[in-house]
Amino acid sequence: MVQSLPPGEATVTAIRPAAESTGPSAFGRDPQRGEDRAATVIGFRRALTVGFGVWASFFGIDCVAVRYLHAGTLLHFLALRLLLAAVVGGVLVRMYRSPAPSERTFKIADALTYGTTAVAMALMCLEFRGIASPYVSGFCLVLFSRTVAAHDPWRRGLVMNGLPVALFFVVLLGAAFFSPHIAAQLHDPAAVATLLLGVGYVFGTYLFLVVNGHIVWSLRRQVFEARSLGRYRLKRRLASGGMGDVWVAYHPGLKRDVAVKILKPEEQARSASALPRFEREVRATADLKHPNTVRVFDYGITEDGLRYYVMELLEGETLSRHVAHFGPLSPARAVHVVGQAARALGEAHEHGIVHRDVKPENIFLTSMGGEHDFVKVIDFGIAKDQSADATVTGTGWVLGTPSYLSPEVAMGRPADARSDVYALGAVLYFLLCGRPPFEDENVAALVFAHIHERPVAPSRKLGRQLPTDVEATVMRALEKDPDARFSTAMELALALASCALAGKWTYGDAALVARNSSRPPPASGIDSLPSLRPPRVPNIRLDGATKDSSENVQPGSLPAH
Ligand SMILES: Nc1ncnc2c1ncn2[C@@H]1O[C@H](COP(=O)(O)OP(=O)(O)O)[C@@H](O)[C@H]1O
Ligand SMILES: [Mg+2]
Repeated sequence: MVQSLPPGEATVTAIRPAAESTGPSAFGRDPQRGEDRAATVIGFRRALTVGFGVWASFFGIDCVAVRYLHAGTLLHFLALRLLLAAVVGGVLVRMYRSPAPSERTFKIADALTYGTTAVAMALMCLEFRGIASPYVSGFCLVLFSRTVAAHDPWRRGLVMNGLPVALFFVVLLGAAFFSPHIAAQLHDPAAVATLLLGVGYVFGTYLFLVVNGHIVWSLRRQVFEARSLGRYRLKRRLASGGMGDVWVAYHPGLKRDVAVKILKPEEQARSASALPRFEREVRATADLKHPNTVRVFDYGITEDGLRYYVMELLEGETLSRHVAHFGPLSPARAVHVVGQAARALGEAHEHGIVHRDVKPENIFLTSMGGEHDFVKVIDFGIAKDQSADATVTGTGWVLGTPSYLSPEVAMGRPADARSDVYALGAVLYFLLCGRPPFEDENVAALVFAHIHERPVAPSRKLGRQLPTDVEATVMRALEKDPDARFSTAMELALALASCALAGKWTYGDAALVARNSSRPPPASGIDSLPSLRPPRVPNIRLDGATKDSSENVQPGSLPAH
């Protein structure tokens, strides 16, 4: 049995990663995209630093070519070398500055550097024997430096390596329209033969680059996937969200699987609030003792700055997935489930912590030590400590999924415990009806509905009678005026506990449902999800960005269970 750390004792450990710190980190660790931007940026910086020196020293070769091979004017070569040095120097400065360049900035820098170099090389060729220039094969050296700089999957490799190659030949051959000398060369068999030789070298290099890039890219991915974060060996990815990836990892010492949430470095680079938010998530979760809150064991940072925290691995599935697969819950079961979540959040509220993103995707239905239908509240990712400095939470926060957004938050007011109560009411509504209180593809309309419209009573939406006390509890939690709701989740928990159905969902009922609903574990891997792909409902951020919420589901109308 793992001994969970007492709250507040989640350790911060500086961990040496299994690979060298220049090796792959979790930049865009999406197997589909297969990116490893941290390592790529480092490789790119190294290639440019070395390339800068090589480029400058080749001026000596220009001098020899001009002096002994009548290669044109030295000024021409000097001007091109200086111009390119300025471009590469500028890009290098940006590469060394923090924050790390975004994926887009990096692509632009890559295309700019190699594109400009290709043009400069072509202009040098034009000065020195045109299409028959010995510098054509010298261009291979420029391309070769990309073996250090870029390791892309083959499709992207074809494009990113193809761009300088194309530019080089466009400038070299396009010069025939302006220069009679180059035009004449195109009719000279010896010049054309020399060009073809150069083309062979360049295209051969290009092909090697693409193949090599793809091989290194896929090896890196495998290395990452077998990588250890300190004591934890990453096994497979469970989910990829807006802020982090959640992995199953193995602790060899404890011989046990755990869940590791890794902060995405690109998210950290993109938003200054990402790291404080991540640390707040760890602190908030580690502070809570309630059995229905996911337990945090550890917090760590690797040498290359990868932040992660470790929690108990939950078997089961989120409420959203469960309802998507099995339809609405019976009222007794819904009361049982939401009651647990309410008690967990009640403890958070007592600690002055507001979850702010309560929704079916963040409530896990699991089995703990043989107890089925055991609830775990997860993802305190936008939790707010009400005593904390509000400025930390002031920008870039996900406000919450529109389907579960309280009216006051929708109006831009700060969230408090009653906002979580509203969201919990909406979750209970969702469990009873299989649908949230308001639905609209249009986010603005959805937000408007939360602010102004009274939800249809769950029994009407479901087309079936529901216990009046349960329905009254839902409707009170969903009051527009926060004062009219339960003031904390604990109050809501007490209200649920006093419903006639409370306690009617027994251990035996839960065990029966668990046995009947046995099927391949849905939580194991986002790649193996069944075909029931939910529609995407965007989460709103204050900075206008949206967060993918592929977990938001609109279930089919299956019978309650
Ligand atoms: N401890 C855990 N055990 C198993 N699965 C988990 C655990 N924590 C999160 N997950 C899975 O990962 C998904 C995303 O995790 P979450 O903490 O909600 O991150 P995000 O900020 O991306 O929403 C969850 O919906 C759940 O499916
Ligand atoms: Mg979540």
